[in-house]
Amino acid sequence: MTLYGVGLGPGEADLVTVRGKRVLEDADVVYSPGRLSRSVALEHVPEERIGDLEFPMTRDEEKLRTAWKEAAAEIAPNAREGDVAFVTLGDPNVYSTFGHLRRTIDAFHPDVDLEIVPGVSAVTAFATALGVEIEAGAGLSLREAAKGASPTGPDRMILFKVTDAPATHAGLLEAGYEVTYGRRLFMEQGETLVTDDPHEIDERDYYTLAYAEKADLEIEQATAAFRTDRTDGPSSDGDTEPDDATSNGESIADGGEPTVAGRSSAGETSSDRERGVEFRSLPEDSDVDGTLVDLERAEGCEHGDCSEHWY
Ligand SMILES: C[S@@+](CC[C@H](N)C(=O)[O-])C[C@H]1O[C@@H](n2cnc3c(N)ncnc32)[C@H](O)[C@@H]1O
Repeated sequence: MTLYGVGLGPGEADLVTVRGKRVLEDADVVYSPGRLSRSVALEHVPEERIGDLEFPMTRDEEKLRTAWKEAAAEIAPNAREGDVAFVTLGDPNVYSTFGHLRRTIDAFHPDVDLEIVPGVSAVTAFATALGVEIEAGAGLSLREAAKGASPTGPDRMILFKVTDAPATHAGLLEAGYEVTYGRRLFMEQGETLVTDDPHEIDERDYYTLAYAEKADLEIEQATAAFRTDRTDGPSSDGDTEPDDATSNGESIADGGEPTVAGRSSAGETSSDRERGVEFRSLPEDSDVDGTLVDLERAEGCEHGDCSEHWY
């Protein structure tokens, strides 16, 4: 039988994965290390199957080791007899309490089978909540910024544990970053807040992160040309056909996503080449009405031309 580490996602009950939900529903006991994870788990399992674990609020490593050994000693026999789950917010392998449990189980109860069910991490959920796109080929670094720390260096960073936003902000600004904060993203408990103003979130709340991007960062995308072209067209409301890229009647999707260009089979024009836009024939079985498709030049794959980039 098995101990499952289950990622619950950022906090809204319907962001638990289908697999995570199934494991929770089937488990004999669902162990929860905190109030928030408990409340999410309760949306999927009855209270009598929740096993609460106590962890002391301390940085004393000896006390913490004792607490983890006690938790492992409680969980291991049940995981030998049946299936049990240990839940964490986000993903169990990202800055998570589950890591301590896994190492303690490995050390003292190595016969226990262990499986991990990944969850939607704040590492990915932040992008949608803050309206950020991490384009193909871009780098993104993960840092902690507790107690007003301002880590710097990478072009783009997600900062976890932002507990003193004004102090963190001052350091980041000085180092040339633009910063957006997100509090309680996709969480049912508490108020969700997204802001550029650190003073709006100067009250300490553990569930706060920041996205920092170098202000002078230059992002080169083939589709950026759509933005320029739009202003040259008959209308700039973003919904009409702006330029030669759509002159055969196909519209560009809202937000400028690359889409079927509806070109003649003559295909690529010199202005396309200047803009770095590539065209390629659609596969024969494609149900897209057009012979050529506009390809994003993906920085992440060789020649920007891998088979993953069909639209
Ligand atoms: C110990 S880490 C846990 C990360 C979690 N395992 C995950 O994968 O998202 C806790 C930090 O993650 C960030 N965080 C987690 N969930 C969040 C949410 N829903 N909204 C904002 N920040 C969140 C906060 O910075 C918080 O201090």
